[in-house]
Amino acid sequence: MKIIRTTDYEGMSDAAFAAVKEAVLADPKATLGLATGSTPLGLYKRMIADHAAAGTSYREIKTVNLDEYVSLPADHPQSYAYFMRKNLFDGLDIDPANTHIASGTADPGEECVRYNILLEALPRDLQILGIGSNGHIAFNEPGTPFGSVTHLVALAESTIRDNSRLFEKAEDVPRYAITMGLSNIMHAKRILILASGENKKRAVSGLVKGPVTEDLPASILRLHPDCTLIVDEAAASLL
Ligand code: F6R
Repeated sequence: MKIIRTTDYEGMSDAAFAAVKEAVLADPKATLGLATGSTPLGLYKRMIADHAAAGTSYREIKTVNLDEYVSLPADHPQSYAYFMRKNLFDGLDIDPANTHIASGTADPGEECVRYNILLEALPRDLQILGIGSNGHIAFNEPGTPFGSVTHLVALAESTIRDNSRLFEKAEDVPRYAITMGLSNIMHAKRILILASGENKKRAVSGLVKGPVTEDLPASILRLHPDCTLIVDEAAASLL
């Protein structure tokens, strides 16, 4: 795994943006795998600003998202579909029909089957990932089999706690999500995993230096032939 160390969140976002822009310019029809959460917000702001200033076009870019909360409709302000529209898609010239995210309101079993078929048809050229403080990637919580594909997951208590900051109260955080599996993620040609902040330092240390184990789902990335970790000082403080 290649590691790029930056001073802070802004530097991490700059490095991630440089990689995404390069990928989009190299192949204007590329398929990007996208994440939600606080980590990629700086990257997404830069993509929108660059689209406005430099005209980088996403007209033929396709996207697939990692995960979605079960029970939240796409127009719910806490749904990941809403997050992606507000924080990225609405600021680009991307065709909404080319953006894909699992449905939080469809039958979960059928939706997982549909999403796995979709992922087969849309192999990711570049996958963006954040990392949970417990080492999860997407919503693959500790203990998820490395061979997993899209599945329904009960969120770990630590994830519900981490994500409750975005809801009025912890009880409002949905308990279930649909997530791309670890095996789906590993099929991306290239992976960028971003980590910023003190609360990620243990997960980052495990990712870089610990055993490759299902107890720390992100550690599977060490087996990927083209994975880059972009990490700021606070998140890298145990390396
Ligand atoms: C979101 C996702 C999650 C987040 C992780 C970190 O689509 O897949 O794995 O990347 O929980 O979240 P933040 O960036 O909010 O710290």
